[in-house]
Amino acid sequence: MRKPLIAGNWKMFLTVEEAQALAKSLCDSDIDYSKCDVLLAPSFTNIYAVHNVVKAAGKPIKVAAQNVYTEDSGAFTGEVSLPMVKSAGADSVILGHSERRNVFGETDEFINAKVHKVLKAGMSVILCVGELLEERESGNANSVVVSQLTKGLANVASLSDIVIAYEPVWAIGTGKTASPADAQAMHKVIRTSIEKLYGKAAASEVRILYGGSVKPDNVTSLMAEDDIDGALVGGASLKAVDFLKIINY
Ligand code: 13P
Repeated sequence: MRKPLIAGNWKMFLTVEEAQALAKSLCDSDIDYSKCDVLLAPSFTNIYAVHNVVKAAGKPIKVAAQNVYTEDSGAFTGEVSLPMVKSAGADSVILGHSERRNVFGETDEFINAKVHKVLKAGMSVILCVGELLEERESGNANSVVVSQLTKGLANVASLSDIVIAYEPVWAIGTGKTASPADAQAMHKVIRTSIEKLYGKAAASEVRILYGGSVKPDNVTSLMAEDDIDGALVGGASLKAVDFLKIINY
């Protein structure tokens, strides 16, 4: 049985004070962590503060970085390394987010190098995949997603520290959610590809999150689908009331 995971990607939002206050509201609320894992991905500058709020409250909320660089240290102005996010309190990293791919030009090969980096450090990866609107409209959504998945996981031996997030780019921040049936269909494609690559047991264990305009009023129907094991939430994770409603779906 796969335990649901609800993850909040705070993207480039919130000051230190705002992030602390949001984390505190979540920690102060009733969440049944036996039913659902919860993860927060603040900006780099807020990881340490959020980690400390969660630690002080003694809650099992995980903290993730939204990205990381491939080198541990060096003359790479503006980059942040894995030892840095780890020491700040992150135990996982989101990689391959569509904003990294499409705004910052990250390639599958670069993302794959980071996947290896994170796994080698004993941390977990949330690997994002998802097609653009034109790729969906031209009938190429499945092949794009399978290609991103296969290349992102190249030479990865085990999926035990990997979560996949399917985020159709046209549904991110647009208010347009994939219908539960369309999301389920893609999740099934992803799980079938994983079965081919890693076998039945790994495919049945790996969690596949859906992301793209997940809100309190659509989370229940998405989560009702067989292959949707959680949500990667952007905008609605920035308001404690909405994110709590999603967690408590
Ligand atoms: P929204 O929920 O704002 O559409 O963002 C989704 C997302 O990109 C999460 O990583």
